[in-house]
Amino acid sequence: MANRETLTPDQIAFFHREGYLTLESVMDREEVEQLCVVYDKLFASQAGREEGNQYDLAGTDEDDQPAALPQIVNPSKYAPQLTQLTVRAHVCTIAKQLLGTDAEMQSEFAILKPPRTDVPTPWHQDEAFWAEDLDYNSLSIWIPLQNVTPENGCLRYIPGSHNSGVVPHRPIDNDPRIHGLETDELDESKAVSCSVLAGGAVIHHCRTLHGAGGNLTNAPRRAYIFAFASPPKKRTEPRDFYWKKMRQTARDLRRQAAGTTSTSDGRTLAKS
Ligand code: NI
Repeated sequence: MANRETLTPDQIAFFHREGYLTLESVMDREEVEQLCVVYDKLFASQAGREEGNQYDLAGTDEDDQPAALPQIVNPSKYAPQLTQLTVRAHVCTIAKQLLGTDAEMQSEFAILKPPRTDVPTPWHQDEAFWAEDLDYNSLSIWIPLQNVTPENGCLRYIPGSHNSGVVPHRPIDNDPRIHGLETDELDESKAVSCSVLAGGAVIHHCRTLHGAGGNLTNAPRRAYIFAFASPPKKRTEPRDFYWKKMRQTARDLRRQAAGTTSTSDGRTLAKS
């Protein structure tokens, strides 16, 4: 790739039409390796767990059992060396070409899919986790730290699904203790799987329906995600995200106990 920061007009048009985009490389192999070392330490040391910034997306998140799909919100808070990654500047330039020059990094996430786990990431729209009275112009840049294929849980998308509104969701398995949301309001036969090499990226709009299978391999599936948004606007038409009110998670209890200040959807502002 001549310049990994500059998208072609075709790539930009593809993202707006389909709601997702695959990029071959956004991160050097060396930096991927450095990040992997820090990443594994953060999960092994349960960084952020007490304040509710490390939790299980797909399980009940109890202290005495391993997480099915552990996530860390804003890992750089616990490993400041991550603020030095050169990939940050690349993804920022890429996001501004897709969202507009007023787009800023909002948050970052690490999502680990442990080896030999049949736990899928159910279909959902990211916006279903957010505020019902705001209109969003937002995307996520999802970077795998090893090659990803359907076998170890690469992302799957429903092309064009970002053009409709947010469909009804429910807590995974209808279990109010689980943070993650799921929906079956989609035609799965239309799904596309996005295999990507380590250090590549898939980008999706906040309303693009996406999910992933389990990880059937013997190695962990590590993904690092940067979320960007233009300032959201107040909606004129109200909507009801009743599924958010159904949840009562162990993570929320830890956050309350720790006095963690961030939005309830996990989108802690990078600056806070
Ligand atoms: Ni998502």
